Amino acid sequence: MRSLDDFAAGKLSALADMNLKRSLVHSVRHGIWLDHNGHRLLSFSCNDYLNLSQHPAVKAATIAAIERYGVGAGASRLVTGNHPLYAELETRLARLKGTEAACVFGSGYLANLGIIPALVGQDDLVLVDELAHACIWAGARLARATIVPYRHNDLAHAEVLLGEHRGRHPRALVATDGVFSMDGDLAPLPELGRMARQFDAWLLVDDAHGLGVVGGGRGSVFAFSEPVDVPLQMGTLSKALGVYGGYLCASQSVIDLMKTRARTLIYSTGLPPAMLAASIAAIDVIECEPDHAGLPLANARAFTRRADLPDAQSPIVPIMIGEVEAALAASRLLEEEGFLAVAIRPPTVPDGTARLRLSFSAAHPRYEIERLGDLIRTRVLNN
Ligand SMILES: Cc1ncc(COP(=O)(O)O)c(C=O)c1O
Repeated sequence: MRSLDDFAAGKLSALADMNLKRSLVHSVRHGIWLDHNGHRLLSFSCNDYLNLSQHPAVKAATIAAIERYGVGAGASRLVTGNHPLYAELETRLARLKGTEAACVFGSGYLANLGIIPALVGQDDLVLVDELAHACIWAGARLARATIVPYRHNDLAHAEVLLGEHRGRHPRALVATDGVFSMDGDLAPLPELGRMARQFDAWLLVDDAHGLGVVGGGRGSVFAFSEPVDVPLQMGTLSKALGVYGGYLCASQSVIDLMKTRARTLIYSTGLPPAMLAASIAAIDVIECEPDHAGLPLANARAFTRRADLPDAQSPIVPIMIGEVEAALAASRLLEEEGFLAVAIRPPTVPDGTARLRLSFSAAHPRYEIERLGDLIRTRVLNN
């Protein structure tokens, strides 16, 4: 249709003028190595922090489950898609996170789109860190709640806003990433937990980038010297676990509510049983090899030392550039040196904060980390 195509072409050309048009590149991944548009590159842009997508035990569990059960789940979990492996995986996740129960969703994004509207509605409040992941914002918007952002990790600001708004809403949620996906820093969870409780607000922590790599592999809630009070711990199976899917760990009653009311669980097909089997095998590895969980952060810290940057707090290290064109140029420079470090641009990050987002894996060779550190220091940051 003419008007439709004109609309799409007009939008695209405006984005291209701002260097914000995106394109998909053929990528075949072999763990940390990629065939990227025909070039072999060492990737610092994957979230497979423990390289578990390539682990022999994880692959074997996946193949065995496909041989036994086939591929697709065939229906929603509430119809015929609730394979018994769900119960096994949910028990394992709850144990790992120290909660009564867990609920597995189709992805991390779908989890937040299901969880948040099942808990709050249009009369309620969602206080959200300004840098929280897009799916937290999407869930809060879907709930039609009043959304109040607080400055990134600014406890004093969050407290003032809670004090101002809490009394006007019957229910309130405080939502944050545990490890921030584009910045790599951790949320101050002990203080946020106390503050939320004081205001009778429910703290939701998105631990997509914490599970498997901080807190001895148990995630950001376990990364502090004191126990942290987080009633809603959600995350993904698709990053350090190397598989696909999302989850919420919480009390039994909250989980029962999700299985009755979360629309992304009810109206979407269950995960393929092989993804459940693979996730269980990946959790086995994390629990049996706790030292492995520390390697991505150790590698990130080796890099930050070499590049003369502040110590990494997680396996994610942002290299702040600012302008979009400069970030794209830095990414191209690294590509010429054999590294993939994708430039992250608005709207994924705020205007004026385009960056290279580096993510470190347990499998990165130390000499390559040091070579990358030298390049970033001397040719990207020009120190
Ligand atoms: C913080 C955060 N939450 C949620 C998600 C979504 O998870 P998934 O990829 O499983 O949809 C991501 C990344 O994709 C993320 O970085």
